[in-house]
Amino acid sequence: MPPQSTTPTPNTSATPVINRGAKRVDINERKIINGGDADVIQLWPIKHKFAWDAYNVGNSNHWLPTEISMQLDIEQWKSQTLLTDDERHALRMVLGFFTTADSIAANNLVLAFYKHITSPEARMYLLRQAYEEAIHTQAYQYIVESLGLDGTEIFNMYREVDAIYNKEEFILSFNQGIFKDDFKTGTFENDQKFLENMCVFSLILEGIFFYSSFAVMFGFQRQGKLTGSAEQIQYIMRDESQHMNFGIDMINTIKQEQPELWTPQFVERIKALVRKAVELEYKYAWEVFPTGIFGLNAEGFKQYIEYIADRRLGRVGIDPLYNVSNPFPWMSEAVDLNKEKNFFETRVTEYKTGGTLDW
Ligand SMILES: [Fe+2]
Ligand SMILES: [Fe+2]
Repeated sequence: MPPQSTTPTPNTSATPVINRGAKRVDINERKIINGGDADVIQLWPIKHKFAWDAYNVGNSNHWLPTEISMQLDIEQWKSQTLLTDDERHALRMVLGFFTTADSIAANNLVLAFYKHITSPEARMYLLRQAYEEAIHTQAYQYIVESLGLDGTEIFNMYREVDAIYNKEEFILSFNQGIFKDDFKTGTFENDQKFLENMCVFSLILEGIFFYSSFAVMFGFQRQGKLTGSAEQIQYIMRDESQHMNFGIDMINTIKQEQPELWTPQFVERIKALVRKAVELEYKYAWEVFPTGIFGLNAEGFKQYIEYIADRRLGRVGIDPLYNVSNPFPWMSEAVDLNKEKNFFETRVTEYKTGGTLDW
């Protein structure tokens, strides 16, 4: 082993280097990105408390798909009369999106976020979040298997159904460049590119593309249909809401740590991406509800998608694009957007005591 240099060399990358005798971590040097100097493998001192809090909430919210009974769903799905063809189509479409979307989210966490984020406490939560994405994919597989659906058909829908392909292709395009081995943060251009990836995954994938599919499942639940599948999705939504909040906290922290990145042009870019996402989601909604089911139709959905898009933009300080009201007030009870920040506190206790989710 070569002798250790006593002169610490600065480490600005996210790759850990042990500098013997280096000065102790200065908390002011800890940053979401470009903070490798403050040591990515030393958890303490924690600067980004929101990440540590998210990690603890994630642990308290632990659940597994196999804990939820699917018996009623199995009976309803087998019955010739309890579900309409439109309802069966809607469930297939939702699963067609979900089954691969969480794998796309997990890949980005592990291959982009984890590699370039330099806050050890944020990395702790990313490990928890990545595991939760695996549980979500397991949940969809469990629904497919329980109902006896053709898994080959459902898991291939992202390649074979345009409306799903277009959403997932849009998201995947933001991995290009960032997944390259030689991509590094530390330049204005690359930092903006990375921040754009964070906005796309947190605000659009987890904040818009997931939420409208959640709404479909709550529509079923309100009719007393597929309640086991809907409960699976409620647990997933609780996790996803936490993922989105964490992503938003990271984005807002980068805005403070590197304010030069958040230029008016960058804001315009994010607004254009959200507009494009809303369009893609609307097309998807048309394919999910060609004729409308249980009070949901594509037109109503358009306004709902616009409404949540504005909410997401507002969380990172961007003015609304659509200024519309919530067309599905009942959705507020199920997916209470007003409580995004704190509804976990009320749910955590329920889960800890073995209670089911009751919205
Ligand atoms: Fe997920
Ligand atoms: Fe997620």
